[in-house]
This record gives sequence, C-alpha cells and structure tokens, in this order.
Amino acid sequence: MDVNLTESVKWVGKVDWDLKSFHGDEYSTHRGSTYNSYLIRDEKNVLIDTVWAPFSKEFVKKLKKEIDLKKIDYIVANHAEIDHSGGLVDLMKEIPETPIYCTQNAVDSLTGHYHMDWNFQTIKTGDELDIGNKKLIFIEAPMLHWPDSMFCYLTGDNILFSNDAFGQHYATELLYNDKVDQCELFQEAIKYYANILTPFSKLVKKKIEEVLSFELPVDFIAPSHGVIWRDNPTQIVDKYLEWADNYKENQITFIYDSMWNSTKKIAESIKDGIYKKDPGLDIKMMKASRWDKNDIITEVFKSKAIFVGSPTINKGILSSIAGLLEEIRGLGFKEKSAASFGSYGWSGESKKMINHKLEEAGFKLIDEGILIKWNPNNSDKTELIDYGKKISTKL
Ligand code: FEO
Repeated sequence: MDVNLTESVKWVGKVDWDLKSFHGDEYSTHRGSTYNSYLIRDEKNVLIDTVWAPFSKEFVKKLKKEIDLKKIDYIVANHAEIDHSGGLVDLMKEIPETPIYCTQNAVDSLTGHYHMDWNFQTIKTGDELDIGNKKLIFIEAPMLHWPDSMFCYLTGDNILFSNDAFGQHYATELLYNDKVDQCELFQEAIKYYANILTPFSKLVKKKIEEVLSFELPVDFIAPSHGVIWRDNPTQIVDKYLEWADNYKENQITFIYDSMWNSTKKIAESIKDGIYKKDPGLDIKMMKASRWDKNDIITEVFKSKAIFVGSPTINKGILSSIAGLLEEIRGLGFKEKSAASFGSYGWSGESKKMINHKLEEAGFKLIDEGILIKWNPNNSDKTELIDYGKKISTKL
C-alpha cells in the first residue's frame, strides 16, 4: 500500500474491510470503509484525526512504529464523531499534554464523549498554525455534518483535509481515486452524499464557494473515509456542487411493499403505462422490504419523482414503507414530485397516510393517488395503465 501522499505527509489510518453497517445500523456499508488519519512531518509534527474506537489500540501501536509519539507536536481533530476521534483516548494516555486543535463546538462534543480535560486549542476560520516550512490553515465547516466539523489545508503540499466531506464508505488498499474502479467509487460517493449530506445541501454549496474564494491551489483532497482525490481532485467538488443543487436525473423510482403481490401488480401496471408514454425514462422498482434502505435513498436522491405504495394494514401502512418515509422526511429532499398507490380490502387508509407523509417530507403531490380493491383484475390493469399514461405528463 502506497501510503505517502508527499515526502512529508503519510496516511496512517485503518482500512475496515469487515464493516457492514455504520452509524449503528443506519447506513449500510456494502464495501466496508476506511478511517483516514494523516501524519505530517515538518519542523513540527502533526497528526490529523485518528480512527474509530475499536481500532484505537492497533492505531496507536502502528503509529509508534512510525514516530516516537512524544515527537507529535500537535493533533488536529477535524471532527469529534467517534469514527475519527475514537483513537484519541489511547493516544492521549501516552501524550496527555499534546495540544488538540479543533473548533469550539468540538470541545463540547469531544468532552461530551470522552469526559477528558485535554489541552484544547480552539480555532476559527482563517487561523493558521506554523509548522516550519509549511503551515496549516483552518476552515470551520459547521453542520457539514456536525456543528464541530472543520477542514484544514496544508500549504506547500496543497492538501485539503476535508474530513467527512468528499468521503465515501469504501474500503480499498489502493488509497487514491485514480487507482480504484470508478463505478464503485462514484456509487459510494453519491450514496454517501444522498444519505448523509442531503439535509445540508445549502451549506455544502456555500462552504465550497467560501473555500474556492480563498484561491488556494489544491493538489489533494484528503477526506477521512475512502480514497484520496489526487487525479483531478476538484472533480469531486464539481460533483458536490451538482448534487447540492437539488439534483435529479431522468429517473423515477417506485418504492412499495406488498403482502400478497396486489400492490406489486399495481406498481407494475402504472409503470407499464408510464413507459408507453415515455420509453426513455429510467424507472426503478424497489420493494422496500427487499432492497437495502440506503440504496433506496440513493435512488430517491437521483429521481425527479417517486411513487410510494403500500396495502392498507391495520388502518395504516406497512412498517417498511413507514420507516422509509420517516428517513426520507428527515433528509429534506427538495424539488421532487410524488404520488401514492396501494391495494385495500375494506378501509383503505394507505393512500391518504402516504400522501400526508410525502407532503410532510416536502414532496409535491402530482396526483391524489390510486387505490385498487383486492387483487387487480384485467379491467383494473387497464385503468392503471391509463393512469400511468396520464400521470407521465406530470413528471
Ligand atoms: Fe465520519 Fe461524521 O464521521
């Protein structure tokens, strides 16, 4: 593994091939992840971030082989979440007086997590730390994605250490963006953005514009997860600007669940109707109880409209759909349309309930939705295909 970014900067993180979920079980990590930590050697030596707590001891042991810990002059904590700060506990036992550079908000979250009175040195945007031939420039990035988040920039080597921003949950031993499979890389990058950064899109745009206004040359963007961007590093910045701008493709996604396949048949007939009018449209069919929820969210992110369907059960909707709609609400998608559908036997509340949740989530309802009693027959199927043709004009 080539871990030297430059003569003076080395990757000292951890590749976690076994990780299958992150944030508890809130985020699926099909391709594992990495916790990137960096060691800068100059007249002063600096450690940027650490690793997740379960790898703390391994991290410190490996770091000792790299450098006498007492020769680490400064630690930079770009973000207090435990996947980056977890290694601090064991590290600070060895070098308890070493200053930790972080935001004021990070003092709150680091002490809130670890209850330790470490030597915090708080920074603000534009503050600089002279480390000899080079310097570090700090840039606060509140709510990207925690109040404590910040970036820092190393002059001379022109490296932006962006922490979570521009990251991906993507285990690789190859370390650099130009060395890995591009489809895998961008799939993980967009999933990361869709599932984590969507609520902060306005701030993403503003922060990128602020960083660009400093006119700093950027040779590397070194996030805290996944690959380091060194080949055309700002390509991921351009992608973020696109994604932050109410992103959508020529795609719609059906998200449904079904008990005896009636709601599934409704979904398929509406889809057939839409295709008859718009054969070029990319339509994805995702059964909520079968598909990974974070993959569904990624498809919602890419869609201009979603169709959400559930049969009525106990005067409500299936729990897989209810859970997803709650996740979708929290992410605050903008400028997307939606409609509902479902089968019912007697009371038929699902359509109304889904419509309410979609509106609450900020989606524009393009129709009042459609319910079919029991299992759709041939005449229902014709009605649904006609419905699909009609609604396709509103997409
Ligand atoms: Fe990778 Fe917000 O932690």
